[in-house]
Amino acid sequence: MKTNTKILVTLLTIGLVASVFGACTQSKEDAGKSVVYQTATPTPKPTKTPTPTPTNTPTPTNSPTPTNTPTPAPTLAVSGLAEYYKDYFPIGVALSRSTVGAVRYEKIVLSNFNQITPENETKPDALLDANASKNGLPGTYTHAAVSFDRCLPTVEYCVKNNMQMRLHTLVWHSQTPNWFFTEDYTQNGKLVSREVMLQRMENYIKDVIEYFDTNYPGLIYAVDVCNEAFDSGDGDENGIRKAKNKWYETVGPDYYYQAFVYARKYAPDYMTLFYNDYSCAYKYNQIIDHLAKAKEEGLIDGIGMQSHLSLNESVNGQYYLAMKAFLKAGYELQVTELDIGMETKTENNLNLQARKYKVLFNNLIKLKDEGYNISSVTLWGISDNLSWRTGKYPLLFDSSLNPKKAYYGALQDPSIPTIE
Ligand code: GLA
Repeated sequence: MKTNTKILVTLLTIGLVASVFGACTQSKEDAGKSVVYQTATPTPKPTKTPTPTPTNTPTPTNSPTPTNTPTPAPTLAVSGLAEYYKDYFPIGVALSRSTVGAVRYEKIVLSNFNQITPENETKPDALLDANASKNGLPGTYTHAAVSFDRCLPTVEYCVKNNMQMRLHTLVWHSQTPNWFFTEDYTQNGKLVSREVMLQRMENYIKDVIEYFDTNYPGLIYAVDVCNEAFDSGDGDENGIRKAKNKWYETVGPDYYYQAFVYARKYAPDYMTLFYNDYSCAYKYNQIIDHLAKAKEEGLIDGIGMQSHLSLNESVNGQYYLAMKAFLKAGYELQVTELDIGMETKTENNLNLQARKYKVLFNNLIKLKDEGYNISSVTLWGISDNLSWRTGKYPLLFDSSLNPKKAYYGALQDPSIPTIE
């Protein structure tokens, strides 16, 4: 770590210690407003170094596993992640419908996050309206009906709390109903032609983007235009996802490209357009290749690295190479679904998890300081009990909503070694 970075981290830590109990004393009236921290002393801003042109910095090598010196218990709680990283990138969280606005979680959410990804509520199976589409035939034949009722509580919560929202996700093989692809909008109907499905795709993308732009201008900071289109296991000879993929069956292997064509056609400038995927560490070259045409034509802005990681994956290894490769290819980068799971909950594993969170965020800080465009980091849930990987204890808060060591790691606390 550079000396000035060290000083910066130390200053931040002092500020954060001072702000600990201030955050805890956030009054009920504060909940529901934009986040205001009562700090004993002002938290020093992480001042960013002027943006240099990205240079060829050497890839961090895998550091040896630290010996089992007991990690001292962190002595501080902190005002929050969003505050800590405010000069670097916003910090988001995925919230389900039942957690949005729930009093139990509100303090954690408002103290740590300034962006929200609806866990399910803006996916196609939540927005597409089966009855209205079917009952509206033949008028709806190329233009399925949509309804925004399911996502409104999340949307309104974002508005009320001055948070931005990720539009996740427009075109995806999963959580998209079969009926959307059939002649009569029934589950087992005959699939429509490529031509009809392209019209349905265009109208769907148009309706969703225009709805948010018209009713909530500025709310959506990023759109996951296409999710998980590349997978060598479930893919065709070129690695485009084919198995159980109605988009592929109807439109064909260029369906992901077409999605970007339509998204660009309708999206206002402030909605940046993303391709989002898992296991980027192992397929970043393929992703870059597949998206080259869309990139060249200016149809895509960024890559979302989902980042459902495990303790046996090195965040300094392949994962770092993937980040660097996307950035060097000129993409804006967002970490969109971060969680780091473990097989068994042991003290050692919790310590290792904390170190991985620390190193991952530390790498993002360093890349940002080198001038790369990293524009958001989102945790895929609040606490271990709410996670889709609940048995793997992957998040920053435990099931009783206590901050884990991982939380202090994410906050660059000096009690957590910056080593995997
Ligand atoms: C993928 C999707 C997310 C979520 C997770 C599993 O990563 O992008 O929306 O569904 O799977 O919960």
